[in-house]
Amino acid sequence: MDIYVGASARAGQPTRLQALRRRLSGALQAGARPYIRWWMSGERVTRVRGVRLRVPVGVFPPRLFHSTKLVCRTVDQLDLVGKSFLEVGCGSGAISVVAARRRAKVTAIDISDAACAATRANAALNGVPIEVIESDLFANVSGTFDVAVITPPFFRHDPSTQLDHAFHAGANFEYFHRLFEQLPAHLHTDSLVLLSLAEGCDAAIGEIARECGFELQIHRRWMVLLQFTYVFRLVRP
Ligand SMILES: C[S@@+](CC[C@H](N)C(=O)[O-])C[C@H]1O[C@@H](n2cnc3c(N)ncnc32)[C@H](O)[C@@H]1O
Repeated sequence: MDIYVGASARAGQPTRLQALRRRLSGALQAGARPYIRWWMSGERVTRVRGVRLRVPVGVFPPRLFHSTKLVCRTVDQLDLVGKSFLEVGCGSGAISVVAARRRAKVTAIDISDAACAATRANAALNGVPIEVIESDLFANVSGTFDVAVITPPFFRHDPSTQLDHAFHAGANFEYFHRLFEQLPAHLHTDSLVLLSLAEGCDAAIGEIARECGFELQIHRRWMVLLQFTYVFRLVRP
């Protein structure tokens, strides 16, 4: 199976050095699992990029996975004043709050009603306006957006609980097929689209994007616990 690996996030088999680094990274992450289980066992109050967040049980834990932090940092450095901003899969709302703080007009969507409720509550807690829509991808969304940001689930399993949707993208990556097919209707020619993935992700995700006319280009990357997290820019060549 091809995966994204290394500083250039090429899809392919890892070199021996990369494979060793990935094994060490896997061990470090396995060591963190009891803490992750504990963190997810109760409602938590936390901060990401200066955003205060209440994260109920059943909602993606933004502090524990580096994608949220890297995307928050990336979004915090964009010029968003007056721009329309869509977050696909908002979870607790950290990224949407950062965008709203930068004075974007933010629409946040999620398939999980618990995530939508958490985003509404966290928008109020941070004093920013966010339109939150419960929606299976774009089912309840209309219009185009200047910026769209996606922190997707990326494991090849069918989701069966609300929380599973944060991690499982379907046994045949149905999430990505639908995402890349439906996304163009919500973009204009100058839209910026950012998608986060972690090193080790199945390279089929990039293939599905390509079939739908998108290329993944590295916008930012960050190594934590010997594993890269990437923010890709989706471009239509
Ligand atoms: C990896 S989590 C990221 C959450 C949040 N963006 C963050 O960084 O903290 C993925 C989110 O996508 C949502 N999601 C999964 N499938 C979805 C779908 N078909 N439509 C809308 N949201 C979906 C999940 O419920 C989850 O909240």
